[in-house]
Amino acid sequence: MKLFRPTGLLFLLIFSLYLGACKPKEEKQQFLIEESEIAPRHLRVIWTEDPSSYAVISWTTMHEHGKNNKVYYDTVSRGGEKLNYTFQVLASKNGAISLVDEDFEEGVQQGYYHHADLKYLKPSTPYYFVVETDDLVSDEYYFISGPDDDREFSLLWGGDSRLGGPEPRYAGRTPHVDRQAMNHRIKALIDEDPGIIGFIHGADYGTTADWRHLFWWFEDHELVVGEDNRILPLIISRGNHDMEVGFEENFWLGETQKKKGFDYYYLTQLGSETAILTLNSEISVAGDQREWLEENLAAARPEKRWVLVNYHRPAYPVVKDPENATFKRVRETWVPIFEKHNIDLALESDGHILKRTVPIRNNKYDESGIIYIGEGGLGVPQRVADSTRWFIQPPGFAMSAHNVHKLSFFKDSISVKAIGMEGQILDKFVIRPRN
Ligand SMILES: [Fe+2]
Ligand SMILES: [Fe+2]
Repeated sequence: MKLFRPTGLLFLLIFSLYLGACKPKEEKQQFLIEESEIAPRHLRVIWTEDPSSYAVISWTTMHEHGKNNKVYYDTVSRGGEKLNYTFQVLASKNGAISLVDEDFEEGVQQGYYHHADLKYLKPSTPYYFVVETDDLVSDEYYFISGPDDDREFSLLWGGDSRLGGPEPRYAGRTPHVDRQAMNHRIKALIDEDPGIIGFIHGADYGTTADWRHLFWWFEDHELVVGEDNRILPLIISRGNHDMEVGFEENFWLGETQKKKGFDYYYLTQLGSETAILTLNSEISVAGDQREWLEENLAAARPEKRWVLVNYHRPAYPVVKDPENATFKRVRETWVPIFEKHNIDLALESDGHILKRTVPIRNNKYDESGIIYIGEGGLGVPQRVADSTRWFIQPPGFAMSAHNVHKLSFFKDSISVKAIGMEGQILDKFVIRPRN
């Protein structure tokens, strides 16, 4: 028997190592966060109206609100030694994230949001930072502030990152394999091209904006951090799956929010020649928002080489019924203003597909018209397009494929590329300046 014991132990050891190796990676997500683990997580950088001088840094703590929530930052790396950073700022907004019964049933635990405003930044400058809650300090990350000159840059843009994976379950117990795969793709893109300076999200982050969904979105978003700890700032918008109060708690727009409430429409100035207008299709598209759009396009168009709009519900849907009021209101209210001011490109989400329309003016094909791209593919299961619709006939198209777009802004063109989960180019075209 004595002879057998070591062999048995060895067998047990090898067997448990084998079991460990077989454990799917996603299972990590099922771990509950320990009481002791209140360290800052979900670090993100939010861009609003003027990314060349202003950014919001946000993070989450679990279990504890914390008494001292602070960002330490500098234009050179300080290796995470908080006292060596030249600048520090207290979070201007902290609070308990609202949890509903389903959140508790799904096992997500109480989280706390923290948002700090970084003001008076220098343009196109790396900002290294750590965040601190009480004495728990994060690793050092950095982001690059937005440009204020006419340099070339690229943005990534995509929408609909909810769910993913083959299982119908919705919260943390579902491995969000497709969303994670798209986040790995985005990370690979930013690692290979430092010219990508920001990410525009076309909304529908989770099935709801309740914590059981946003928590996992933020966990998955950590996959996007670059090899050298570069965080890609986000320009966010609001979709029909983002209506709960958790969206407002976790996606804080700082000064913009203070000015405009939770409207989630605003103009982002990138460099001297590009204006990105984020619109909110989930509130009235008429009234104040329409007036704001009219005024801002009238002001931006003569000044800027590139004017783009980003919003969730498509004017020209390729999956859902275009005659449905949800889409008609966007088409009838905003499109005439887009056409009047000759915007360069419209970014749409919501349909769970990849599309490019023909150039459209007055509701028909027109060489001088506006191209509408997108419909969302950051991990949400893809649908099938109605291929008979006039606005996706060649050179337009639609296909079911997860996708993220890379928009590269040059002096003589915008290069538009739709990139698939494996990094393959799914679509590619260029836009020339209108004036
Ligand atoms: Fe949607
Ligand atoms: Fe969606």
